[in-house]
Amino acid sequence: MSLSFEERVVLVTGAGRGLGREYALAFAERGASVVVNDLGADTKGGGKSSAAADKVVEEIRAKGGKAVANYDSVEDGEKLIQTALDAFGRIDVVVNNAGILRDRSFARTSDLDWDLIQRVHLRGSFLVTRAAWNHMKNQKFGRIIMTASAAGIYGNFGQANYSAAKLGMLGLANTLAIEGRKYNIHCNTIAPVAGSRLTETIMPPDLVASLKPEYVAPLVLWLCHDQCQENGGLFEVGAGWIGKLRWERSQGRIVRQANQPMKPEAVRDQWDKICDFTDATKPTNVQESLQSFMSVLSQVESEGEVGANPTAAAASLASTSGINLAEAVGQKLPPTTFSFNHTQCILYALGVGMSTKDPDHLRFLYEGHPDFSCLPTFGVIPSQAAMMDGGLSSVPGLSIDFTQVLHGEQYLELYKPLPTSGKLTSEATIADVLDKGSGAVILLDVNTYSGDELVCYNQFSVFVVGAGGFGGKRTSEKAKAPLPPPQRAPDAVVIDSTTRDQAALYRLSGDWNPLHIDPSFAAMGGFKAPILHGLCSFGFAARHVLKQFADNDPSRMKAIKVRFVKPVMPGQSLQTEMWKEGNRIHIQCKVKETDAVVLSGAYVDLHAISDPSPENFAQGGGLQSELVFAEIGRRIKDLGSELVKTVNAVFGWEITKDGKNTAQWTIDLKNGSGSLHKGPYNGKADVTFTVSDEDFMEVVQGKLNPQKAFFSGKLKVRGNIMLSQKLEVILKVYAKL
Ligand code: NAI
Repeated sequence: MSLSFEERVVLVTGAGRGLGREYALAFAERGASVVVNDLGADTKGGGKSSAAADKVVEEIRAKGGKAVANYDSVEDGEKLIQTALDAFGRIDVVVNNAGILRDRSFARTSDLDWDLIQRVHLRGSFLVTRAAWNHMKNQKFGRIIMTASAAGIYGNFGQANYSAAKLGMLGLANTLAIEGRKYNIHCNTIAPVAGSRLTETIMPPDLVASLKPEYVAPLVLWLCHDQCQENGGLFEVGAGWIGKLRWERSQGRIVRQANQPMKPEAVRDQWDKICDFTDATKPTNVQESLQSFMSVLSQVESEGEVGANPTAAAASLASTSGINLAEAVGQKLPPTTFSFNHTQCILYALGVGMSTKDPDHLRFLYEGHPDFSCLPTFGVIPSQAAMMDGGLSSVPGLSIDFTQVLHGEQYLELYKPLPTSGKLTSEATIADVLDKGSGAVILLDVNTYSGDELVCYNQFSVFVVGAGGFGGKRTSEKAKAPLPPPQRAPDAVVIDSTTRDQAALYRLSGDWNPLHIDPSFAAMGGFKAPILHGLCSFGFAARHVLKQFADNDPSRMKAIKVRFVKPVMPGQSLQTEMWKEGNRIHIQCKVKETDAVVLSGAYVDLHAISDPSPENFAQGGGLQSELVFAEIGRRIKDLGSELVKTVNAVFGWEITKDGKNTAQWTIDLKNGSGSLHKGPYNGKADVTFTVSDEDFMEVVQGKLNPQKAFFSGKLKVRGNIMLSQKLEVILKVYAKL
């Protein structure tokens, strides 16, 4: 669809010639009502004539367009807007374009040269825009263009006055973009290059002729259209090319130590590092900018505390982080235990947004539900105690400021469905420490056990701001890497809102960091308000996948990986985009309201519904047969009544591992519509099989014939042996495996 400006009222200042004229014609051609402002001055701001504006208005009208002229100087901002209101009843778009030049080498720049340039460019844009502002605010729509210049961005000989005014306009635009955002007023800045009478004195004539204003106007039109959401941008444009500019900031260097004066010599000595753009950051707002200063303050201050320790005090500035790789890597943290019952499971489920509104969620919210289960991502909860309890700070070789810790990434792998109560023990190890320049990444591997049985494994990637530069490697083969999603559109998208109290609720599961509840603490971290826990969004995303691709069956979840990119504010909506690639579901999570990506490179690995292959479960040290039974359970749910008719028997199973009886199962295809449960049959099973976990897997995968297994003694049968034939009806579905 072509971009229309029907119903829009556009003011273009300095529209009597050059770029402004081109904008006015282009807007009018697409239906806008245009105020063509031009004072008719000469290039230095002298003189006055209505001819320039009149001519453009005539041109527009001759083509059937709507336009009126205004001959005031932009210094009479109100009058320009009044013309728009009188002629067309509103003002939607202001293009601040009027301009003059008074080029002089700096020493020869007079007060008048300086003042006139500031008055027309900077003050004129201020006055015109201010006059339009409240109208735009009230109608909740406005688009503003500021015209800067390469001379302002880069400097240019003989244009000190002009450079200052032009970059002043960029500063003005930056703030208007922020103040206008909530009223749908967008303000962007362009630095154009075009042949005009302003450039004909400095460019050769054929260049002036070929750099046409019509190669600039389309950007201005797009930036001023309803559909364009760009706000606060700066663009260079000319000759048919458009590029966007932004700020870059070097990693920089801290050049002072606690309780010591900061000296110019330290600045000199660190100069190369201060100016080194390797791993530069790109701050986009004052908060991001300030955050680094806050980080420096606490880093230097915490160093002061450590200063009591003579070795730390002696440490050179170049290695302020105090990371000793050889000492830290491989260190084990003191084990932690976590006792829980259904209350914690339910609290967690509520914390990650489960609700009784969704009948599927009841199995995670009601302990009396026949399938009451714990959400798989609850697996992060017992393991995080290792970090929350300050375990990391006790690790030799890691003297880091732990107020500067950000949760960068998370990997969770489950070896068996989580129990809904019990006592779990977690053992954490520093798997590796990476040097990312701007900070250090600590990879913390945590194994969580129930008794001797490994239940799950977590890898926390913890980013410590400002702790880099200790000479470590940037990557590690131990890191569970994030993976980009496929290039195509997502296969499924789920949108789910968090509540205003989501963080207040989630923290009750054990992450008590005040950043998520205390406004003043959040402000210190550079946030407008307390932010949602990254692991809460992680829980949301995981259950979206579970619902979309695994029928809400917690036993299907094998692993999940996410990278935390940006914070989510409680109350915002999470949009989980999912791509299915076999048993791997790639995910990307965005805040719906802002379209900002919050979880990236994320994926969930599911156990295949029809593939209880040993490798899926073998790592767990858990029983491989568990999954097969889980699948049998699902089949019974689907086809139970039918199977009861054809089979009419109760099968007991005893699964052994290393000669010990480790699990019992009952497949009841006699009563009701059939059922599966873990444990012996309450009564006498018609037939009971005893088999090792490994042989069971061989049988279900068709690698071992059940008769052979029986005759070789691998499969023991008690009760009505004839019924084993019927077993095939149930196992048949797996024969193809
Ligand atoms: P231009 O000289 O062709 O057009 C500027 C227009 O502004 C003139 O018609 C002039 O009468 C009018 N004007 C001057 N003072 C005014 C005032 N006080 N009130 C109302 N109107 C006034 O110049 P051009 O090249 O079209 O420039 C347009 C804008 O783009 C200017 O702001 C200029 O600084 C900027 N720019 C242009 C570049 C180029 O390559 N042409 C490069 C960088 C910036």
